[in-house]
Amino acid sequence: MRTQVAIIGAGPSGLLLGQLLHKAGIDAVILERQTGDYVLSRIRAGILEQVCIDLMDEAGVGQRMHKEGLVHGGIDLLFKGQRHRIDMNQLTGGKNVMVYGQTELTRDLMEARAAAGLSTVYQATNVQVHDFDGKNPRVTYEKNGQTHEIHCDFIAGCDGFHGVCRASAPRSAIREYEKVYPFGWLGLLSDTPPVHDELIYANSPRGFALCSQRSHTRSRYYLQVPLTDKVEDWSDEAFWQELRLRLDPEARAKLVTGPSIEKSIAPLRSFVTEPLRFGRMFLAGDAGHIVPPTGAKGLNLAATDVKYLYNGLVEYYQDKSEAGIDRYSELALKRIWKAERFSWWFTSLMHRFPGEGEIAQKFQEAELDYLIHSEAGARTIAENYVGLPLDFGQ
Ligand code: APR
Ligand code: PHB
Repeated sequence: MRTQVAIIGAGPSGLLLGQLLHKAGIDAVILERQTGDYVLSRIRAGILEQVCIDLMDEAGVGQRMHKEGLVHGGIDLLFKGQRHRIDMNQLTGGKNVMVYGQTELTRDLMEARAAAGLSTVYQATNVQVHDFDGKNPRVTYEKNGQTHEIHCDFIAGCDGFHGVCRASAPRSAIREYEKVYPFGWLGLLSDTPPVHDELIYANSPRGFALCSQRSHTRSRYYLQVPLTDKVEDWSDEAFWQELRLRLDPEARAKLVTGPSIEKSIAPLRSFVTEPLRFGRMFLAGDAGHIVPPTGAKGLNLAATDVKYLYNGLVEYYQDKSEAGIDRYSELALKRIWKAERFSWWFTSLMHRFPGEGEIAQKFQEAELDYLIHSEAGARTIAENYVGLPLDFGQ
Protein backbone atom coordinates (compact mmCIF):
# COMPACT_ATOMS: atom_id res chain seq x y z
CA MET A 1 0.00 0.00 0.00
CA ARG A 2 1.12 3.56 -0.69
CA THR A 3 0.16 6.92 0.77
CA GLN A 4 1.70 10.38 0.89
CA VAL A 5 1.73 10.81 4.69
CA ALA A 6 1.56 7.90 7.13
CA ILE A 7 0.23 9.26 10.43
CA ILE A 8 0.88 7.24 13.58
CA GLY A 9 -1.72 7.86 16.31
CA ALA A 10 -5.40 8.87 16.13
CA GLY A 11 -5.44 11.29 19.06
CA PRO A 12 -6.22 14.95 18.42
CA SER A 13 -2.86 15.58 16.67
CA GLY A 14 -3.15 12.73 14.18
CA LEU A 15 -6.83 13.28 13.45
CA LEU A 16 -6.46 17.03 12.99
CA LEU A 17 -3.46 16.60 10.68
CA GLY A 18 -5.36 13.96 8.70
CA GLN A 19 -8.36 16.23 8.25
CA LEU A 20 -6.31 19.28 7.22
CA LEU A 21 -4.30 17.22 4.73
CA HIS A 22 -7.49 15.78 3.28
CA LYS A 23 -8.84 19.31 2.74
CA ALA A 24 -5.63 20.16 0.87
CA GLY A 25 -5.92 17.05 -1.31
CA ILE A 26 -3.00 15.26 0.34
CA ASP A 27 -3.48 11.58 0.99
CA ALA A 28 -2.88 10.11 4.46
CA VAL A 29 -3.46 6.87 6.36
CA ILE A 30 -3.74 6.84 10.16
CA LEU A 31 -2.58 3.87 12.24
CA GLU A 32 -3.87 3.67 15.82
CA ARG A 33 -2.99 1.06 18.43
CA GLN A 34 -6.26 1.30 20.36
CA THR A 35 -9.93 1.11 19.34
CA GLY A 36 -11.83 4.31 18.54
CA ASP A 37 -13.99 3.81 21.64
CA TYR A 38 -10.91 3.56 23.83
CA VAL A 39 -9.50 6.80 22.40
CA LEU A 40 -12.82 8.51 23.16
CA SER A 41 -12.96 7.15 26.70
CA ARG A 42 -9.82 9.03 27.79
CA ILE A 43 -10.81 12.14 29.72
CA ARG A 44 -8.35 14.91 28.96
CA ALA A 45 -8.29 18.71 28.99
CA GLY A 46 -11.01 21.02 27.78
CA ILE A 47 -9.79 24.54 27.03
CA LEU A 48 -9.27 25.65 23.43
CA GLU A 49 -7.24 28.69 22.44
CA GLN A 50 -8.36 30.78 19.48
CA VAL A 51 -5.67 29.21 17.25
CA CYS A 52 -7.11 25.78 18.01
CA ILE A 53 -10.65 26.97 17.30
CA ASP A 54 -9.47 28.47 14.00
CA LEU A 55 -7.83 25.19 13.04
CA MET A 56 -10.97 23.20 13.72
CA ASP A 57 -12.76 25.65 11.39
CA GLU A 58 -10.03 25.38 8.78
CA ALA A 59 -10.40 21.60 8.94
CA GLY A 60 -14.16 22.05 8.38
CA VAL A 61 -15.17 20.43 11.68
CA GLY A 62 -16.06 23.43 13.83
CA GLN A 63 -19.87 23.41 13.67
CA ARG A 64 -20.69 21.54 16.90
CA MET A 65 -17.82 23.24 18.74
CA HIS A 66 -19.30 26.67 17.98
CA LYS A 67 -22.77 25.49 19.01
CA GLU A 68 -21.84 23.75 22.26
CA GLY A 69 -18.53 25.34 23.31
CA LEU A 70 -18.63 27.94 26.06
CA VAL A 71 -16.67 31.13 25.44
CA HIS A 72 -14.77 32.37 28.50
CA GLY A 73 -13.22 35.83 28.73
CA GLY A 74 -11.62 35.42 32.16
CA ILE A 75 -10.38 33.13 34.91
CA ASP A 76 -10.46 33.48 38.69
CA LEU A 77 -7.32 33.14 40.79
CA LEU A 78 -8.05 32.21 44.40
CA PHE A 79 -5.46 32.79 47.12
CA LYS A 80 -5.56 33.82 50.78
CA GLY A 81 -9.21 32.80 50.74
CA GLN A 82 -10.24 35.39 48.13
CA ARG A 83 -10.99 35.21 44.45
CA HIS A 84 -9.71 37.71 41.88
CA ARG A 85 -10.76 37.76 38.24
CA ILE A 86 -8.22 38.07 35.45
CA ASP A 87 -10.17 39.76 32.67
CA MET A 88 -8.36 38.10 29.79
CA ASN A 89 -10.64 39.52 27.16
CA GLN A 90 -10.00 43.09 28.20
CA LEU A 91 -6.28 42.56 28.84
CA THR A 92 -5.63 40.99 25.42
CA GLY A 93 -7.71 43.30 23.27
CA GLY A 94 -10.65 40.93 22.89
CA LYS A 95 -9.24 37.40 23.02
CA ASN A 96 -11.07 34.51 24.72
CA VAL A 97 -10.76 30.77 25.23
CA MET A 98 -13.43 28.13 24.70
CA VAL A 99 -14.52 25.31 26.99
CA TYR A 100 -14.92 22.26 24.74
CA GLY A 101 -13.74 18.84 25.88
CA GLN A 102 -10.90 17.11 24.06
CA THR A 103 -13.20 14.10 23.87
CA GLU A 104 -15.74 16.13 21.89
CA LEU A 105 -13.10 17.59 19.59
CA THR A 106 -11.76 14.08 18.97
CA ARG A 107 -15.27 12.79 18.26
CA ASP A 108 -15.90 15.57 15.71
CA LEU A 109 -12.66 14.78 13.91
CA MET A 110 -13.33 11.02 13.96
CA GLU A 111 -16.81 11.47 12.55
CA ALA A 112 -15.61 13.81 9.80
CA ARG A 113 -12.91 11.29 8.87
CA ALA A 114 -15.39 8.44 8.73
CA ALA A 115 -17.88 10.55 6.72
CA ALA A 116 -15.18 11.37 4.15
CA GLY A 117 -14.36 7.66 3.86
CA LEU A 118 -10.76 8.20 4.93
CA SER A 119 -8.65 5.33 6.11
CA THR A 120 -7.91 4.82 9.81
CA VAL A 121 -6.59 1.45 10.93
CA TYR A 122 -7.58 0.92 14.56
CA GLN A 123 -6.03 -1.85 16.65
CA ALA A 124 -2.88 -1.76 14.53
CA THR A 125 -0.26 -3.56 16.63
CA ASN A 126 3.52 -3.66 16.46
CA VAL A 127 3.70 -0.45 14.41
CA GLN A 128 7.28 0.12 13.24
CA VAL A 129 8.78 3.01 11.29
CA HIS A 130 11.58 2.32 8.78
CA ASP A 131 13.97 4.14 6.41
CA PHE A 132 12.90 7.66 7.38
CA ASP A 133 16.50 8.80 6.90
CA GLY A 134 16.03 8.33 3.13
CA LYS A 135 13.44 9.29 0.51
CA ASN A 136 11.32 6.16 0.79
CA PRO A 137 10.12 5.66 4.35
CA ARG A 138 7.95 2.67 5.25
CA VAL A 139 5.68 1.75 8.11
CA THR A 140 4.83 -1.82 9.04
CA TYR A 141 2.09 -3.01 11.39
CA GLU A 142 0.11 -6.08 12.29
CA LYS A 143 -3.63 -6.48 12.21
CA ASN A 144 -5.61 -9.70 12.66
CA GLY A 145 -2.42 -11.74 12.64
CA GLN A 146 -1.18 -10.34 9.31
CA THR A 147 1.75 -8.00 8.68
CA HIS A 148 1.07 -4.98 6.46
CA GLU A 149 3.41 -2.45 4.89
CA ILE A 150 2.78 1.17 3.90
CA HIS A 151 5.15 3.09 1.63
CA CYS A 152 4.99 6.84 2.06
CA ASP A 153 6.75 10.17 1.48
CA PHE A 154 6.60 11.21 5.15
CA ILE A 155 5.82 9.80 8.58
CA ALA A 156 3.97 11.98 11.09
CA GLY A 157 4.62 10.77 14.65
CA CYS A 158 1.40 11.82 16.40
CA ASP A 159 1.55 8.86 18.75
CA GLY A 160 1.75 10.55 22.13
CA PHE A 161 4.27 10.38 24.93
CA HIS A 162 4.54 6.56 24.90
CA GLY A 163 4.60 6.23 21.12
CA VAL A 164 6.95 4.38 18.81
CA CYS A 165 8.14 7.31 16.66
CA ARG A 166 10.20 9.23 19.20
CA ALA A 167 11.53 5.91 20.52
CA SER A 168 12.71 5.05 16.98
CA ALA A 169 14.71 8.22 16.45
CA PRO A 170 18.48 7.61 16.58
CA ARG A 171 19.68 8.25 20.16
CA SER A 172 22.65 10.24 18.89
CA ALA A 173 20.32 12.71 17.11
CA ILE A 174 17.89 13.41 19.92
CA ARG A 175 18.01 15.45 23.11
CA GLU A 176 15.34 15.22 25.80
CA TYR A 177 14.66 17.74 28.59
CA GLU A 178 12.52 16.66 31.50
CA LYS A 179 11.19 17.83 34.85
CA VAL A 180 8.91 15.63 36.95
CA TYR A 181 6.83 17.34 39.64
CA PRO A 182 6.51 15.87 43.15
CA PHE A 183 2.69 15.64 43.08
CA GLY A 184 -0.18 14.59 40.85
CA TRP A 185 -3.66 15.82 39.93
CA LEU A 186 -6.68 13.84 41.04
CA GLY A 187 -9.49 14.65 38.58
CA LEU A 188 -13.22 14.08 39.03
CA LEU A 189 -15.90 14.45 36.36
CA SER A 190 -19.54 14.77 37.45
CA ASP A 191 -22.92 15.66 36.00
CA THR A 192 -23.37 18.61 38.31
CA PRO A 193 -23.58 22.32 37.40
CA PRO A 194 -20.17 24.05 37.61
CA VAL A 195 -19.55 25.98 40.82
CA HIS A 196 -18.78 29.14 38.82
CA ASP A 197 -19.35 30.36 35.26
CA GLU A 198 -15.58 30.60 34.66
CA LEU A 199 -12.62 28.49 35.86
CA ILE A 200 -11.21 28.91 39.36
CA TYR A 201 -7.49 28.22 39.91
CA ALA A 202 -6.93 27.95 43.67
CA ASN A 203 -3.69 28.28 45.62
CA SER A 204 -4.49 27.03 49.13
CA PRO A 205 -2.31 25.98 52.07
CA ARG A 206 -3.79 22.47 51.56
CA GLY A 207 -2.61 22.40 47.94
CA PHE A 208 -3.81 23.44 44.50
CA ALA A 209 -7.38 22.96 43.28
CA LEU A 210 -9.03 23.69 39.94
CA CYS A 211 -12.74 24.09 39.22
CA SER A 212 -13.28 23.48 35.52
CA GLN A 213 -16.23 22.39 33.43
CA ARG A 214 -17.37 20.74 30.23
CA SER A 215 -20.84 22.33 29.91
CA HIS A 216 -23.49 24.04 32.02
CA THR A 217 -24.35 20.66 33.51
CA ARG A 218 -21.00 18.85 33.63
CA SER A 219 -18.11 19.79 35.92
CA ARG A 220 -14.46 18.80 36.03
CA TYR A 221 -12.56 19.36 39.28
CA TYR A 222 -8.95 18.66 40.22
CA LEU A 223 -6.99 18.40 43.49
CA GLN A 224 -3.23 18.38 43.94
CA VAL A 225 -2.42 15.06 45.67
CA PRO A 226 0.80 13.31 46.74
CA LEU A 227 2.21 10.97 44.10
CA THR A 228 1.82 8.11 46.54
CA ASP A 229 -2.00 8.48 46.65
CA LYS A 230 -4.06 5.89 44.79
CA VAL A 231 -7.37 6.76 43.19
CA GLU A 232 -9.00 3.97 45.25
CA ASP A 233 -8.02 5.91 48.39
CA TRP A 234 -10.33 8.72 47.35
CA SER A 235 -14.07 8.20 47.76
CA ASP A 236 -16.26 10.79 46.03
CA GLU A 237 -17.20 12.14 49.47
CA ALA A 238 -13.54 12.56 50.45
CA PHE A 239 -12.87 14.39 47.19
CA TRP A 240 -15.75 16.85 47.67
CA GLN A 241 -14.79 17.42 51.29
CA GLU A 242 -11.18 18.23 50.37
CA LEU A 243 -12.25 20.46 47.48
CA ARG A 244 -14.51 22.46 49.80
CA LEU A 245 -11.58 23.04 52.16
CA ARG A 246 -9.50 24.50 49.31
CA LEU A 247 -12.20 26.94 48.10
CA ASP A 248 -13.39 30.35 49.28
CA PRO A 249 -16.57 30.55 51.41
CA GLU A 250 -18.82 31.61 48.51
CA ALA A 251 -17.69 28.79 46.22
CA ARG A 252 -17.86 26.33 49.12
CA ALA A 253 -21.49 27.26 49.71
CA LYS A 254 -22.36 27.09 46.00
CA LEU A 255 -20.62 23.80 45.22
CA VAL A 256 -23.06 21.15 44.00
CA THR A 257 -21.73 17.63 44.50
CA GLY A 258 -22.81 14.34 42.98
CA PRO A 259 -21.51 10.91 41.98
CA SER A 260 -18.34 10.87 39.87
CA ILE A 261 -18.49 9.68 36.26
CA GLU A 262 -14.73 9.38 36.12
CA LYS A 263 -11.91 9.78 38.61
CA SER A 264 -8.19 9.41 37.89
CA ILE A 265 -4.76 10.57 39.00
CA ALA A 266 -2.30 12.03 36.50
CA PRO A 267 1.37 12.81 37.18
CA LEU A 268 2.73 16.23 36.16
CA ARG A 269 5.67 16.53 33.84
CA SER A 270 7.50 19.08 31.69
CA PHE A 271 9.20 17.35 28.75
CA VAL A 272 10.61 18.52 25.43
CA THR A 273 12.35 16.61 22.65
CA GLU A 274 14.73 18.36 20.29
CA PRO A 275 14.60 18.28 17.33
CA LEU A 276 11.11 17.33 16.10
CA ARG A 277 12.32 16.15 12.72
CA PHE A 278 14.41 13.09 11.85
CA GLY A 279 14.82 12.94 8.08
CA ARG A 280 11.34 12.27 6.75
CA MET A 281 9.75 11.62 10.14
CA PHE A 282 8.22 14.45 12.21
CA LEU A 283 6.99 14.44 15.80
CA ALA A 284 3.88 16.45 16.73
CA GLY A 285 1.85 16.84 19.93
CA ASP A 286 2.52 14.75 23.03
CA ALA A 287 5.03 12.64 21.03
CA GLY A 288 7.42 15.59 21.21
CA HIS A 289 6.51 17.38 24.42
CA ILE A 290 4.46 17.28 27.61
CA VAL A 291 3.36 20.20 29.77
CA PRO A 292 1.91 20.10 33.28
CA PRO A 293 -1.83 20.82 32.80
CA THR A 294 -1.97 24.01 34.87
CA GLY A 295 -1.87 26.32 31.84
CA ALA A 296 -4.23 24.16 29.71
CA LYS A 297 -1.61 24.10 26.96
CA GLY A 298 -1.27 20.39 26.00
CA LEU A 299 -4.00 20.18 23.40
CA ASN A 300 -3.37 23.68 22.07
CA LEU A 301 0.33 23.04 21.53
CA ALA A 302 -0.52 19.82 19.72
CA ALA A 303 -2.84 21.79 17.45
CA THR A 304 -0.22 24.41 16.61
CA ASP A 305 2.46 21.79 15.91
CA VAL A 306 -0.01 20.28 13.47
CA LYS A 307 -0.61 23.68 11.87
CA TYR A 308 3.12 24.27 11.27
CA LEU A 309 3.62 20.73 9.96
CA TYR A 310 0.57 20.93 7.73
CA ASN A 311 1.80 24.26 6.27
CA GLY A 312 5.18 22.67 5.53
CA LEU A 313 3.64 19.63 3.85
CA VAL A 314 1.30 21.77 1.73
CA GLU A 315 4.29 23.85 0.63
CA TYR A 316 6.12 20.65 -0.26
CA TYR A 317 3.31 19.20 -2.38
CA GLN A 318 1.89 22.40 -3.90
CA ASP A 319 4.99 24.55 -4.36
CA LYS A 320 7.59 21.78 -4.55
CA SER A 321 9.53 23.58 -1.80
CA GLU A 322 11.14 21.96 1.23
CA ALA A 323 11.52 25.30 3.05
CA GLY A 324 8.44 24.73 5.22
CA ILE A 325 9.31 21.22 6.36
CA ASP A 326 12.90 22.36 6.92
CA ARG A 327 11.67 25.03 9.33
CA TYR A 328 9.06 22.89 11.09
CA SER A 329 11.13 21.80 14.07
CA GLU A 330 12.58 25.23 14.79
CA LEU A 331 9.25 27.03 14.41
CA ALA A 332 7.28 24.57 16.52
CA LEU A 333 9.94 24.43 19.26
CA LYS A 334 9.97 28.21 19.61
CA ARG A 335 6.31 28.16 20.47
CA ILE A 336 6.58 24.98 22.54
CA TRP A 337 9.28 26.39 24.83
CA LYS A 338 7.21 29.49 25.56
CA ALA A 339 4.21 27.39 26.51
CA GLU A 340 6.48 25.06 28.52
CA ARG A 341 7.82 28.05 30.41
CA PHE A 342 4.34 29.41 31.14
CA SER A 343 3.04 26.01 32.26
CA TRP A 344 6.04 25.44 34.55
CA TRP A 345 5.78 28.95 36.01
CA PHE A 346 2.02 28.78 36.60
CA THR A 347 2.43 25.32 38.14
CA SER A 348 5.17 26.62 40.44
CA LEU A 349 3.03 29.59 41.45
CA MET A 350 -0.08 27.60 42.34
CA HIS A 351 1.07 24.33 44.01
CA ARG A 352 2.48 23.33 47.39
CA PHE A 353 5.95 21.83 46.93
CA PRO A 354 6.86 19.29 49.64
CA GLY A 355 9.64 20.45 51.94
CA GLU A 356 9.56 24.11 50.91
CA GLY A 357 7.85 25.31 54.08
CA GLU A 358 5.59 28.24 54.85
CA ILE A 359 7.88 30.83 53.31
CA ALA A 360 7.16 29.37 49.86
CA GLN A 361 3.44 29.97 50.42
CA LYS A 362 4.20 33.57 51.45
CA PHE A 363 6.29 34.15 48.31
CA GLN A 364 3.50 32.75 46.15
CA GLU A 365 0.88 34.91 47.82
CA ALA A 366 3.02 38.01 47.41
CA GLU A 367 3.58 37.23 43.74
CA LEU A 368 -0.13 36.60 43.16
CA ASP A 369 -0.98 39.83 44.97
CA TYR A 370 1.48 41.66 42.73
CA LEU A 371 0.15 40.00 39.56
CA ILE A 372 -3.49 40.86 40.14
CA HIS A 373 -2.78 44.48 41.11
CA SER A 374 -0.32 45.25 38.31
CA GLU A 375 -1.83 45.59 34.85
CA ALA A 376 1.43 44.32 33.37
CA GLY A 377 1.29 41.34 35.73
CA ALA A 378 -2.30 40.48 34.94
CA ARG A 379 -1.65 40.89 31.22
CA THR A 380 1.29 38.51 31.32
CA ILE A 381 -1.03 35.80 32.64
CA ALA A 382 -3.81 36.74 30.22
CA GLU A 383 -1.76 36.81 27.02
CA ASN A 384 -0.11 33.49 27.78
CA TYR A 385 -3.34 31.82 28.88
CA VAL A 386 -5.27 32.78 25.73
CA GLY A 387 -2.24 31.67 23.70
CA LEU A 388 0.54 33.63 22.02
CA PRO A 389 -0.02 34.45 18.34
CA LEU A 390 1.31 31.83 15.91
CA ASP A 391 3.91 34.25 14.57
CA PHE A 392 4.95 35.60 18.01
CA GLY A 393 8.62 36.59 18.01
CA GLN A 394 9.28 35.55 14.40
N1 APR B 1 1.10 2.67 17.37
C1 APR B 1 -0.08 3.26 17.03
N2 APR B 1 -0.67 4.21 17.79
C2 APR B 1 -0.06 4.57 18.91
C3 APR B 1 1.17 4.01 19.31
C4 APR B 1 1.76 3.01 18.48
N3 APR B 1 2.90 2.44 18.81
N4 APR B 1 1.54 4.57 20.48
C5 APR B 1 0.58 5.44 20.80
N5 APR B 1 -0.39 5.45 19.86
C6 APR B 1 -1.62 6.24 19.86
C7 APR B 1 -2.30 6.31 21.22
O1 APR B 1 -3.11 5.18 21.46
C8 APR B 1 -3.11 7.59 21.12
O2 APR B 1 -4.42 7.37 20.66
O3 APR B 1 -1.31 7.60 19.57
C9 APR B 1 -2.34 8.43 20.10
C10 APR B 1 -1.71 9.67 20.72
O4 APR B 1 -2.73 10.51 21.21
P1 APR B 1 -2.53 11.51 22.44
O5 APR B 1 -1.77 10.83 23.51
O6 APR B 1 -3.85 12.06 22.76
O7 APR B 1 -1.55 12.66 21.86
P2 APR B 1 -1.87 13.85 20.86
O8 APR B 1 -2.77 13.44 19.75
O9 APR B 1 -0.56 14.47 20.54
O10 APR B 1 -2.74 14.85 21.74
C11 APR B 1 -2.20 15.86 22.48
O11 APR B 1 -3.37 17.14 24.22
O12 APR B 1 -4.62 17.47 26.15
C12 APR B 1 -3.40 17.10 25.64
O13 APR B 1 -1.88 15.58 26.53
C13 APR B 1 -3.13 15.73 26.02
O14 APR B 1 -3.76 13.93 24.66
C14 APR B 1 -3.37 15.07 24.68
C15 APR B 1 -2.70 16.00 23.84
C1 PHB C 1 -9.88 20.67 32.29
O1 PHB C 1 -11.02 21.15 32.16
O2 PHB C 1 -9.69 19.44 32.24
C2 PHB C 1 -8.74 21.59 32.50
C3 PHB C 1 -8.95 22.96 32.40
C4 PHB C 1 -7.90 23.82 32.63
C5 PHB C 1 -6.66 23.32 32.95
C6 PHB C 1 -6.44 21.96 33.03
C7 PHB C 1 -7.49 21.08 32.80
O3 PHB C 1 -5.64 24.18 33.20
